[in-house]
Amino acid sequence: MPIEIKLSERLKKLPPYLFAEIDKTKRSLQSEGKDVIDLGVGDPDMPTPGHIIEKLYKAVQDPQNHKYALDAGMPEFREAIAAWYKKRFNVKLDPQKEILPLIGSKEGIAHIPLALINPGDVVLIPEPGYPVYYSATVFAGGDPYFMPLLEKNNYLPDLHAIDSQELAKAKMMYLNYPNNPTSATCDLGFFKKVVQFAENNNIMVCHDAAYTEIFFDGKKQPSFLQADKAKSVGIEFHSLSKTFCMTGWRVGFAVGNADMITGLSKVKANIDSGIFQAIQIAGIEALEMGEADTKRFNRIYQERRDIFAEGLNKMGWSVKKPEAAFYIWLRVPPGYTSSELVMLLLKKCNIVCTPGNGFGEDGEGYVRFALTKDKEQIIKALERIEKLHE
Ligand SMILES: Cc1ncc(COP(=O)(O)O)c(C=O)c1O
Repeated sequence: MPIEIKLSERLKKLPPYLFAEIDKTKRSLQSEGKDVIDLGVGDPDMPTPGHIIEKLYKAVQDPQNHKYALDAGMPEFREAIAAWYKKRFNVKLDPQKEILPLIGSKEGIAHIPLALINPGDVVLIPEPGYPVYYSATVFAGGDPYFMPLLEKNNYLPDLHAIDSQELAKAKMMYLNYPNNPTSATCDLGFFKKVVQFAENNNIMVCHDAAYTEIFFDGKKQPSFLQADKAKSVGIEFHSLSKTFCMTGWRVGFAVGNADMITGLSKVKANIDSGIFQAIQIAGIEALEMGEADTKRFNRIYQERRDIFAEGLNKMGWSVKKPEAAFYIWLRVPPGYTSSELVMLLLKKCNIVCTPGNGFGEDGEGYVRFALTKDKEQIIKALERIEKLHE
């Protein structure tokens, strides 16, 4: 007799998967041989720079690197992270206590509530936002409280609008600038306000900085840790994924408050066994020698951004050119919901984009395009959208 397979209550709390119909339609168009332009996924189309691959190739041949890695990461990798942080943000970090390498930043973002949250604790989550903040909170038994990111507030959360009873129960807050999905940015002044708010309300801040290095027109983006006393209230997650086109390699890191880092490393010591050392060695190369590559990627994204945003604006679909991150967040024209516009673009133009409500209720009324296809495809996508208007 087969046993009854009953999945956990926590899995039932996850939101429904909204993209099933889009995925199905996309696959069926592709099987008909249609040329589908996929601007849905935020996965860079450009390859990892050759010098980083070379380092991996050499490191992979050294048997010393075939063993279990240290949970806390190679000391050399932590040193390289500290040096990169000092150079990029002028923030000093203790490589022993304030840095923890991760198997991609998603891994750390997903595990941190297990280190900080007890059942019933409230976690403040930006919405629309990266879906992992919600699922990680639920997995740890926390209660998610959404902070709406509204266009009228430049997609910054209104900290004063948080319900006072919920705030009293809140222990942790996720933040993310430059932001996915809106591409909104914030300045250091906002981070300073967050530190003050966190101090006043006893809230631990987890800032997701996956996109700080993807910026345009020379507008460098700040680190949360640049705000005075930020290290006493929070940590920041970084990723090599977007910065160096290394999404598949799975490497990132958390930096900041030593106690929060210790908590996260305890969780991880019971779940994974560190990052493959050859990847850490390649990661050192990326951090030490990859600046020119990131600049090159940013020039390419900037050109795509200009072409796409100007093209949409010409058609009357008004969008703001983002200062950072590689997403275009478009308010849908009147008469459509997010999902309706996505399906129209898919069926009539064979273009994939993401409905804003997939990132939370306040994303309804918007769609997200990822600029992760080359210029020719972006131009082709615009030509197809233009035909809709004829
Ligand atoms: C906002 C945000 N944070 C974190 C991640 C995770 O990046 P990774 O796990 O590749 O470091 C992503 C990936 O798309 C993201 O959009």
